[in-house]
Parts: sequence; structure tokens; C-alpha cells
Amino acid sequence: MSDAALLPLLQGRVALVTGASRPRGIGLATARLFARHGARVALLDLDEDQAQAAARSIGPAHLGIGCDVRDAGACASAVARALQWAGRIDVLVNNAAITQKRGVLEVTAEDFEQVVSIALRGTLQMAQCVIPTMVEQRSGSIICISSMSAQQGGGVFGGSHYCAAKAGVLGFMRAIAKELGPQGVRANAVTPGLIMTDFSRGANSDDNKHALGKTFPLGRVGQPEDIAGACLYLASDLSSFMTGATLDVNGGAYMR
Ligand SMILES: NC(=O)c1ccc[n+]([C@@H]2O[C@H](COP(=O)([O-])OP(=O)(O)OC[C@H]3O[C@@H](n4cnc5c(N)ncnc54)[C@H](O)[C@@H]3O)[C@@H](O)[C@H]2O)c1
Repeated sequence: MSDAALLPLLQGRVALVTGASRPRGIGLATARLFARHGARVALLDLDEDQAQAAARSIGPAHLGIGCDVRDAGACASAVARALQWAGRIDVLVNNAAITQKRGVLEVTAEDFEQVVSIALRGTLQMAQCVIPTMVEQRSGSIICISSMSAQQGGGVFGGSHYCAAKAGVLGFMRAIAKELGPQGVRANAVTPGLIMTDFSRGANSDDNKHALGKTFPLGRVGQPEDIAGACLYLASDLSSFMTGATLDVNGGAYMR
């Protein structure tokens, strides 16, 4: 569908996306689609220069901020910078995560801490920083990127600690959806299946992913834009009566 055929669904909105600087990543694809729909986007990632380069790559109206979501102080200062820059925050996409391929007996305390502190504690900390503004605005949409691994166990590269963190994200999302709904703040999740990004860091080749994708009902692996589309829906007023929901975006690889 051409851009002209699409309404600008996020005109005047301000969005924050964590883990948004990787060229083939879901975060940057989401930021780019939000920008095409009129949003101003703050792109957060570990490295400030890379975050700024990613912001420039989607247009001049966007901001790149270095932010390690494990660090509560860094989350607070990133949100403060975004607020100073744009004056409001309408959307948070909790996207930053890492995975590790491990058997359950191989998962060390450090592995667990590394994976959970980014995917789950980072999600809590970023949400805590934007919620006061969203409550004051009496509107906001928090989108949590979970994983199909949370629903059906690890796939090609997600260990049990990764699955646990991503299942925790779903529980957290439902809790805040219930708590904040009366104040006009929505929270929802997306559970991607296998998506063509650099997430597995070479543990699974692109060829392998394409071969696996052929076994899915839709006959292909997902692209970052497939997840971005679901995020756009959850960020926009198209989903204004949805909260506490989980959107499965997996090509039919898992149905419940
Ligand atoms: N690719 C898949 O097949 C797949 C499947 C299911 C779920 N997901 C989820 O999608 C999300 C995006 O993954 P992706 O596939 O685009 O991978 P990716 O590795 O390209 O993106 C992850 C981003 O998070 C950033 N990041 C890592 N640690 C961080 C930290 N401490 N603070 C801030 N940023 C940090 C990375 O720098 C990177 O930009 C993740 O939450 C992942 O769990 C991906």
C-alpha cells in the first residue's frame, strides 16, 4: 500500500522506542513507521552516537538518546530529555532485549541477571518513568515486545531464562493495563515469532530462518516491518478500546 493511501495515524504524537538503533532491528523499523505516520520519535539505545545516527536516518525531526535500560537513572534522564524536547509522551515501546542460546542447566546467575535485567527490569523502569506523564495527560499507550517463546517455550535461540523474562513481560503488561486503565493509559504486548533481524547474533543463519519460515502457515519468516505494523496499531487510536491484550505476530507458527 502506498504512503498516500494511509492516514497519518500518529500526527502530533511523541513516541519513545528502546533498543532502536540496529539497522535491521524491530525497534528502528517501528520508529521509522511511527515517523511516517507523523510522530516525533525518541530512539533509545546503548550507544548515544548510534542512537543519534538511527534518529537521523528516519528524518530530521527525531531524537537519539544513549540509554541502557538496566540503569534506572539512565531511563529517568532519557525520559526527562525526551520530555524537555517534545513536551509530552504518548507512546512507549519497550523493545530492548538480548537473548542467549542455553540449555536450562547451563544458565548461570549472571546469564539470568543479564537477560532479565534488560527485558523485564528495563521494561518496568522505562514504564515507571513515562507513567506519571501519561497519567497527567490522561492518555498514553505502552507497548511491550514479548516473544512467542513466552507462550510455547524457547525456539531456535531463546533459552529458558529468556522465555521466563518474556513471559514476565506479559504479566507485567496485564498488571499495568489493569492499574492504569482508569487513568486513560493503555498497555498491550506483541509476541513476535521468528523475525529476520540480527537478534540471534549468528546462532541462526538467514538461510536457516528462511527455511524455517517456509514451514509456517504463511510460508515465510517475519520482517521487522511486520512487528512495526502491530506496534503502530497499538500506538494509534485504532486500538483505543484495547488494553491488556497480546497480539501474536508469527505467520501462524503458533496459534492459541
Ligand atoms: N528477532 C526475532 O526473531 C524476535 C522474536 C521474538 C521477539 N523478539 C523481540 O524483539 C525485540 C527486538 O529484537 P530484534 O530482533 O530487533 O533484535 P536486535 O538485537 O536487532 O534489537 C535489540 C536492540 O536492543 C538493544 N539493547 C540491548 N541491550 C540494551 C540495553 N541494556 N539497553 C538499551 N538497549 C539495549 C540492542 O542494542 C539492539 O538495538 C526484542 O525484545 C526481542 O526479544 C525478536
